[in-house]
Amino acid sequence: SLVALDDSVPEPNRTQDRSAPVAEVEPGAPFGNTPDTDPSLPANRLWGREILTRVPGSRLGEDLVAEHTLTDVDALESVIASAVAEGEAWGHRPAAERAEILERAALRLEQRRADLLEVMASEAGKTLDQGDPEVSEAIDFARYYAHLARGLDSVDGATFVPSRLTVVTPPWNFPVAIPAGSTLAALAAGSAVVIKPAPQAARCGSVMVEALWEAGVPREVLRLVHVEESDLGQRLVSDPRVDRLILTGAYETAELFRSFRPDLPLLAETSGKNAIVVTPSADFDLAAKDIAASGFGHAGQKCSASSLVILVGSVATSKRFREQLVDAVTSLTVGWPSDPETQMGPLIEPASGKLLRGLTTLDAGESWLVEPRQLDEVGQLWSPGIRTGVKRGSTTHLTEYFGPVMGIMTAETLEEALSIQNQVDYGLTAGLHALDPEEIAVWLDGVQAGNLYVNRGTTGAIVRRQPFGGWKKSAIGAGTKAGGPHYLFGLGEWTPARSSA
Ligand code: ALA
Repeated sequence: SLVALDDSVPEPNRTQDRSAPVAEVEPGAPFGNTPDTDPSLPANRLWGREILTRVPGSRLGEDLVAEHTLTDVDALESVIASAVAEGEAWGHRPAAERAEILERAALRLEQRRADLLEVMASEAGKTLDQGDPEVSEAIDFARYYAHLARGLDSVDGATFVPSRLTVVTPPWNFPVAIPAGSTLAALAAGSAVVIKPAPQAARCGSVMVEALWEAGVPREVLRLVHVEESDLGQRLVSDPRVDRLILTGAYETAELFRSFRPDLPLLAETSGKNAIVVTPSADFDLAAKDIAASGFGHAGQKCSASSLVILVGSVATSKRFREQLVDAVTSLTVGWPSDPETQMGPLIEPASGKLLRGLTTLDAGESWLVEPRQLDEVGQLWSPGIRTGVKRGSTTHLTEYFGPVMGIMTAETLEEALSIQNQVDYGLTAGLHALDPEEIAVWLDGVQAGNLYVNRGTTGAIVRRQPFGGWKKSAIGAGTKAGGPHYLFGLGEWTPARSSA
């Protein structure tokens, strides 16, 4: 079930000047990952500063970022009807034609990188360094799924019949890459798409969709709806003309959507409660840095974030490691994304419910290694928190807070650490910091998660190099990984090719 990192794909180089015109890639050129913006180039720093001048400086939600017309019942009906009608023709186009449009979409997304970064910062609170890899990932999805689409028409003995209409319901935490990935996959497979961006990040979804339209994706084939009331969302996914749903969000949301129409094929990437194990053989400097980045990048609001650290044997009592971890975490500059100094931005909304409890209330036996502080009036800006003394089976061990709060647990042995890690119902990402090859082998063999990271952070999967997806309660449906070679197969059916004699 584990897919190894594909080393045949080179790491993207990082030398592009973002203020220069974007180079076009030949249609059908071999796939390679798109480089992120290299922040060490002065031109790119200036380019980033200019973007930030357009980002509101105060808390999110105070400035009007966008206005949308909410889709009503009648509009929804006409969107579905026309998408089904137009989707058929799209599915019958040669895959190579769809692929070329997707490659133009990749170019357009690159040309609109600055707009996408601006809206991710303004609307979703993403710092530029968090948003930039999202744009690269969206471009990678466009080019990689174009490449896969070309392969769909050339399988001997079988014909791929795509869904006619796929509904995409993305989350707000990766408001460009995830909507783009799901939409581009369905379009590549030959399906029409109705996308309903998360209301908290509706403008991010709209700008992404505009870029695809500008690149030549027909507006009738890719429809954008803004729905806030849950009954309209329910109406959309319950419609019998919809034949697939790609959903990324909380496990409970996926279950709810599934209850609306149990027969609807669903590809869902859901929650995670991810841990990094640190053994005595680890490089402590590297471990501390990776834990801080995996736990507190985008304020911990990632399904892939690590919110548990399991210290093995002598690491549990190592004063040096604790100091390094506390240093790495408390030195993060917390602020609004408009400030170029900000390393950890705000929550998408003021903390409430489970997350607020996680930031404020300790459970039996726990204490704060780093106590979180509320830094604004409404509770959207928090400094990172680390709970220590976390007990097996506790809330901190087993539930996802989805914010800047981490728990530390201890284990006598690596085997015990694995058992703590695997006790969680989810299985999305998992990390190990250890330099001993035997420990690495034992851990890789025993850990139950879709994306494994050894001696690095647990976020930031890269299209084709490391497809993304989990098991256990982190995934529902086909179980194919986003950005991997089989993802399009989950978006249609194979039938025997017709032959005549
Ligand atoms: N694909 C995202 C990551 O790997 C969720 O962090």
